[in-house]
Amino acid sequence: MFNDKTILVTGGTGSFGKRFIQMVLERYQPARLIVYSRDELKQFEMQQHFNHPCMRYFIGDVRDGERLDMAMHGVNFVVHAAALKQVPAAEYNPMECIKTNIYGAENVIKAALNNGVEKVIALSTDKAANPVNLYGATKLCSDKLFVAANNMAGRHPTIFSVVRYGNVVGSRGSVVPFFDRLIKEGASRLPITHGEMTRFWLTLQQGVEFVLTNFARMKGGEVFVPKIPSVRITDLASAMAPDLPQEIIGIRPGEKLHEVMCPADDSYHTYEFKDYYVIAPSITFTSRNNDFAINALGEQATLVEPGFEYNSLNNRDFLSIEALKTMNQQVLAE
Ligand SMILES: NC(=O)c1ccc[n+]([C@@H]2O[C@H](COP(=O)([O-])OP(=O)(O)OC[C@H]3O[C@@H](n4cnc5c(N)ncnc54)[C@H](OP(=O)(O)O)[C@@H]3O)[C@@H](O)[C@H]2O)c1
Repeated sequence: MFNDKTILVTGGTGSFGKRFIQMVLERYQPARLIVYSRDELKQFEMQQHFNHPCMRYFIGDVRDGERLDMAMHGVNFVVHAAALKQVPAAEYNPMECIKTNIYGAENVIKAALNNGVEKVIALSTDKAANPVNLYGATKLCSDKLFVAANNMAGRHPTIFSVVRYGNVVGSRGSVVPFFDRLIKEGASRLPITHGEMTRFWLTLQQGVEFVLTNFARMKGGEVFVPKIPSVRITDLASAMAPDLPQEIIGIRPGEKLHEVMCPADDSYHTYEFKDYYVIAPSITFTSRNNDFAINALGEQATLVEPGFEYNSLNNRDFLSIEALKTMNQQVLAE
């Protein structure tokens, strides 16, 4: 579906963006593939690896609506991946996080509507479900903006959906590269925030695959949630350094013990498909198909039980220490 089409990726120089570009170039022949981000050095470095003639590199900030509007001329599909995503940085710089993650989302929506973009997928996080930190709260606002945008679309053809998932193994600033660095520096112990902590876990490949597939499944208004495994953080530390003692350092500001992807309060409009859930909009769209029990490919779902919650503790699928070793080796070798 991406052959001869123009795709714009906000945050295209980030962990997700680079893998997305790589996979699209491997599988399709897009007309243009646009990276939209702020830092010229990251773009320069990326150009050394991704220099296919269809590639375009646009310097721009998602806070700058005018620039985004120009960048989206002639664009068919948008993936909105640009975000500030470090929990502690967001707690200390709340307005910066609000400007990028919320006002930035609003600018992406306006530019997509103005330019008649066909489909937009915005990336979200499990931290947006029942948020306890500012980062999660801004991503929940962003999710709500993208869902509601389907109502603003009116005569425009644009549809908007959200993809929400958990920790991406090996992404910038995440725990696997952090532990890896400590181990290489000869640390005498690995710091663990809490002995019971669990997290949802997926690879970048799985994340990009899920986004690509959802472009075909989306009707507009869904929050797509993949069924993915959980990990115990103590198992992760054991997989990476079986002989190192683990030191409990306490939960950090804004951190949860377990993450939620589908909150119980949303169970009344959450549908279970074979490999994923869809949280349908709680609002009704005036001029759209509101049947989310069937996706755009004709696949059927069932409504989950009232009160059902999908969280990283009650998940039926946990990665073993052996599975984590294999996954970490693959990710760190990339
Ligand atoms: N990594 C995870 O574990 C994870 C889990 C769940 C969801 N997500 C979501 O997935 C998305 C992508 O995450 P990621 O891991 O790829 O993040 P990342 O590696 O930190 O990349 C972020 C990207 O956004 C760009 N960016 C930041 N602020 C911007 C702005 N104001 N205007 C334009 N571009 C901006 C950055 O480039 P410049 O700095 O050059 O602008 C960079 O290209 C985010 O929305 C995140 O919330 C990530």
